[in-house]
Amino acid sequence: MPRLKHSRPLNDIARLKHNLTKSFRVTGKKVYLRPLTVEDATRRYCSWMNDPDVIRYTESRYSRKTVAGLKRYIVNANGGTSNFFFAIIDKRTDRHVGNIKIESAVNPFWDHLVAEIGLIIGEKNCWGMGFGTEAIRLMTRFCFNVLKVRKITAQCYSINVGSAKAFRAAGYVQECLRRANARYNGKQIDLLLFGAINPRFKR
Ligand SMILES: CC(C)(COP(=O)(O)OP(=O)(O)OC[C@H]1O[C@@H](n2cnc3c(N)ncnc32)[C@H](O)[C@@H]1OP(=O)(O)O)[C@@H](O)C(=O)NCCC(=O)NCCS
Repeated sequence: MPRLKHSRPLNDIARLKHNLTKSFRVTGKKVYLRPLTVEDATRRYCSWMNDPDVIRYTESRYSRKTVAGLKRYIVNANGGTSNFFFAIIDKRTDRHVGNIKIESAVNPFWDHLVAEIGLIIGEKNCWGMGFGTEAIRLMTRFCFNVLKVRKITAQCYSINVGSAKAFRAAGYVQECLRRANARYNGKQIDLLLFGAINPRFKR
C-alpha cells in the first residue's frame, strides 16, 4: 500500500521518541509539555490518581495507585513506540500539574496514523484556568506537525462538562454520541467521541 505523503514511518517515530530528552518542550502561554519521566512519579502525582474528584470520570477510578506502580507504568509507556506521554507544567510556577498522552488507538503500528489523546489536570486549583484546553492544543500541534499524525480522537463521559468543553475549545469536533455506553454511580451515561483532523492531509 502506498504510504501517505506526510506520514512518518514507524522507525522514524521510534527514533524520534528515543531521542526526546527531558529538556524537550512544547510551549504555550500558560503551560508547557515535556516528556514524563520516572522522577515525576511523586507522592503528589500519586495523590491525584487516588483523588475521587480527579478520577471520577476516568477509567483510573477502578484501581488504587501506588508510587511504585506509577513508576512501572511510566517505564512501560516510555519503552513503547505507539505512545507519547508528557507532563503538563504550569509555566508560572514550573510545577507539574497534570499529564497528557497519545496512544495509537487503532493499532500499535500507526498504520492509520490515528492516535487517541487523554489528559488529566491533577492539581484541582488549576481547573478552569485554560490549562486543559492549552495542553490539548499543544499536544495536537506536536502530533500534527512533528509526528505527522493524520487524525486524533478523544472521548469523554457526557457528564464530564469540563472535558467536553476543553476538547471543543481546542478545535475538536464531536463526531458522535454513543448512547448508554458507560455506567456512572449505577446510572447509564452517554459517551462523547471527538476528533481533530490534520489539515495537511487532503481527504
Ligand atoms: C477535564 C479537564 C481536563 C479540563 O481541564 P481544565 O484545565 O479544567 O479546562 P479549561 O480550564 O481549559 O476549561 C475548558 C472549559 O471548560 C470549563 N470547565 C472546566 N471544568 C469544568 C467543570 N467541572 N464544569 C463545567 N465547566 C468546566 C471551563 O470553564 C472552560 O469553559 P469556557 O471554554 O467556556 O471558558 C480537567 O478538569 C481534568 O483533568 N479533570 C479531571 C480528569 C478528567 O476528567 N480528565 C478527562 C477525562 S476524558
